[in-house]
Amino acid sequence: MTTPLLQLQGFSVAYGEVEAVHNVDLTVAEGEIVTVIGPNGAGKTTLLAAAMGLLPSRGALSMGGERLARPSVEAMVARGVGLVPEKRELFGEMSVDDNLLLGGFARWRRGQRDQRARMDEVFAIFPRLAERHAQWASTLSGGERQMLAIGRALMARPRLLMLDEPSLGLAPLIVREVLQVVSSLRQIGVSVLLVEQNARAALQVADRGYVLETGSVALSGPAQTLLRDRRIIETYLGIGNKTTSAATAA
Ligand SMILES: Nc1ncnc2c1ncn2[C@@H]1O[C@H](COP(=O)(O)OP(=O)(O)O)[C@@H](O)[C@H]1O
Ligand SMILES: [Mg+2]
Repeated sequence: MTTPLLQLQGFSVAYGEVEAVHNVDLTVAEGEIVTVIGPNGAGKTTLLAAAMGLLPSRGALSMGGERLARPSVEAMVARGVGLVPEKRELFGEMSVDDNLLLGGFARWRRGQRDQRARMDEVFAIFPRLAERHAQWASTLSGGERQMLAIGRALMARPRLLMLDEPSLGLAPLIVREVLQVVSSLRQIGVSVLLVEQNARAALQVADRGYVLETGSVALSGPAQTLLRDRRIIETYLGIGNKTTSAATAA
């Protein structure tokens, strides 16, 4: 097997005395779309935040085979990791263009003046953003805001993009559109770690999946296998669950 882009081994995260993520083993290979699914409170956001270096963790984290003794945001960004947090954190009273340019600011400061080309790349991926490039971010629809948040992260040219529930609050058709774009990012050399409560939509676009339950990996495997797994179907893909996600999206 080739060296994974991201590898977590025995990865645990605690809030004080309470462990929210226990002993997780997870890899994302170059070019892979990997999803972590699980119910509310399972530890998905905690896992992503710690993998980004935003929270202290125990266990091992490696990027491209290099073990990071103490993952920090700076170290992860320097190694090409980007995070789109659950709260999209856009600047509402700034244009789409300016929000994107801010995403490319760190590169600009390092002397990499390719922001125009990066922006064209983002507009090619999300033509809807090109149409609305001069509009304030606060005037965009939910789906467009999610596209802008992803586009802004892409301005930093990540090798690995980590997304925290990009489908949250979006109508089902928009969810599909956004996740299909997410899965196509490998074509521009971006691997993806996608955290989702919307198990069906995530497994439909991912190569592999991990099921997180109360902080531990309960099950993992190829996404197509998980989609057919009886336990997954009953717990996460059943009629009840579908109704719940439709209700959340409304
Ligand atoms: N800042 C925090 N302090 C203490 N406990 C937290 C904090 N954030 C999350 N938790 C707890 O950690 C667990 C996992 O939360 P979270 O990672 O947000 O789950 P998910 O993203 O899967 O919904 C939950 O029990 C939650 O209450
Ligand atoms: Mg969460």
